[in-house]
Order: sequence, then structure tokens, then C-alpha cells
Amino acid sequence: LTPLAAARRRLLALPHRAAESRAGRRLIYEVRNRRVFSDLYQHDRMLHDRVRVDAYVAGIEKHVRPGDVVADLGTGSGVLAFLAARAGASTVHAIEHGQIIEAAEAGARANGIENVRFHRTHSQRFDPGERVDVLLHEQIGDAAFDERVIDNIADLRDRVLKPGGRILPGRLGLYIAPVELDEPFRGPYAWQQTDLHGLDFSALRSLAPAQGHGYRYRLFRPFPLGRILAEPEPVAIVDLHTARPGDLPTTFTYERPVTTAGKLDGFCVWFAAWFDDDLSFTSSPLDPPTSWATPLLRVATRSVAAGDTLRFELRAGDLAAPETWDWDD
Ligand SMILES: C[S@@+](CC[C@H](N)C(=O)[O-])C[C@H]1O[C@@H](n2cnc3c(N)ncnc32)[C@H](O)[C@@H]1O
Repeated sequence: LTPLAAARRRLLALPHRAAESRAGRRLIYEVRNRRVFSDLYQHDRMLHDRVRVDAYVAGIEKHVRPGDVVADLGTGSGVLAFLAARAGASTVHAIEHGQIIEAAEAGARANGIENVRFHRTHSQRFDPGERVDVLLHEQIGDAAFDERVIDNIADLRDRVLKPGGRILPGRLGLYIAPVELDEPFRGPYAWQQTDLHGLDFSALRSLAPAQGHGYRYRLFRPFPLGRILAEPEPVAIVDLHTARPGDLPTTFTYERPVTTAGKLDGFCVWFAAWFDDDLSFTSSPLDPPTSWATPLLRVATRSVAAGDTLRFELRAGDLAAPETWDWDD
């Protein structure tokens, strides 16, 4: 290897080396998050998602009281801050680390909303100079915790929220269920194609171990659900009023009897978010579609019969970082 080629190889390996540590993953996430949400299309999708918007309208109208001081973590287009202002908040601190905040400021002016104060900063550097009554957020990832919600909410809660203050939504759950995909979307591994018009592709299996994480962690939007083969189970349900970074489980075992015979294509993952015991929303593929993608943890497709026991172990270096998840076929 020439010194130049060796330097190039070290440079190319940097993102992989960084992703091995929690701090490195966090850094990669922050850079990517700021870039993703600078794309107006993301805000198109989120504002167009009636399940999401209607749930927040209901949650904010129910839980933000006249005179409350509110902090909106990751204000984006400003929608949640505007709703809180309309619900009677005396001041809303709208925090946003991306340039979308400029559009949100213009939006507040266009809507005649004067009591939203905009802070262009990362939430962990935000200091409002006062304690707040309510922490508002939509920091929910496709796999619930993967937008670093626990790190960021725990930081704000401990520094900025009044004792007994409210977090909206305050509880988050991550679910998993074995599924068969809808026929046109069924995707056995290429190496499982042993008789494609008489051709056998099982030789491709040798390439599988070298594939990146996305080969087995597939995102669908909307999710092409054929059927759920056994009861869903929560991997984790977290109360953000008390959760601390590091609280999430790192292994989870799913073990359930098959209730509906079919082809097991993998385990699909979704979240539920609660404003209170009666008010929640979910990205479950059993409910109306939302702007969230639904991850599928692929396994080698196989037939299962009603009454079979399905066992699946999820091993997560960090449950908030799906790129650290691993499971057997
Ligand atoms: C999923 S979007 C939600 C936007 C808006 N609240 C809504 O409901 O439409 C999350 C927003 O939070 C911002 N964000 C993420 N983490 C942040 C942090 N730690 N500090 C400040 N802004 C953050 C992103 O740039 C993005 O605009």
C-alpha cells in the first residue's frame, strides 16, 4: 500500500470508526439531523400528516394552560409552538438548530403570533433564563428513540422544566411484530431464490455478511402489511418524565405463539406516543398511515403455522441507534 492509498483507506474508515462509539454516533446523528430537516420536503410530509398534526392539536389543547411558559424542542416549521401560543401560553421558547428556524420566524409574523421567542441553537445549549411549565417535542424517530429523544428531553427536563412540569408527549413505546408482507412487496433474500425460472441464486449468500446495515433493516413508507403473524409486543415503554440516557434495554426476546399461518418475512417496528392515558397516536401499520417510515427487521423468509412458537432476539448496542441492532435470521 502506498502512503497515499493508506491515508485514503484511513479516511474512508473514519465514519465506521466514529459509529463504533456512542459519542461518535451522536456526532454523526447531529450533522445528519440538521441536514435532513433543512429539506423543506420533510416539513411538507410532517405538516401533511393528519394523524400526527391532529394528535398534537388535541394534546396541546388539552394540556397547555393559559399563562404556561412552554419550550418547544426542535420547532422546525414552528407548528407546535404556534399551537401552544394559540392555546394560551404566555411565552413559547422555540428551539431549533437548523436554518428552518428562519422560516418559522416568518411564519409566526405571518400568523400574527408575537409571544414565540426563537432560539437558534442546539437544545443542550439552550438557556431560557427561566423555568418552563411544559416541554413540547416531536423528536420521535421511525424506531421511537432514534431521534435522540431521551438524551435531549432528559437534559431539558433536568435543567429547564419546573418540578412537576409536563412533557408532551410524555410516554413513548417501541413495538415489534412478526409479519408477512403484501405479495408484490415480499422480498426474500436474493440467495433464497433457488428456482427463478429454473435459475438458482443461492450463490449470492456469500455476499450477505459484507452488506451494510440497511440490507436487513429496511424502511417502508407506507408499510406493505400482508398480515401480522403473532401478537405485537412492546420492546420498551419509557416515561420521559423520569427516563435517563442509558435506561433503554440492550437485549429483547420476543417469544409468542403464531396466531395466523403465513410466510415470515421479518419483524416490523413501530412506536406509540402518549399525551396521557386516553390520548395517543401510533405509527402502527395496523392504523392509518403516517409520515413515519416503518422499519422491517428482515429474516430469511420461512413458512410458519398457527401454534408454532416464534422466538426472536434483538441485540442492541444502543436501542436509540438502529445501526447497532443485530438479530439472527
Ligand atoms: C421531527 S422534526 C419536528 C418539527 C416540528 N416540531 C413539527 O412537529 O413539525 C424535529 C426538528 O427538531 C430539530 N432538532 C432535532 N434535534 C434538535 C436539538 N437537539 N436541538 C434543536 N433542534 C433540534 C430538527 O432540526 C427538526 O427541525
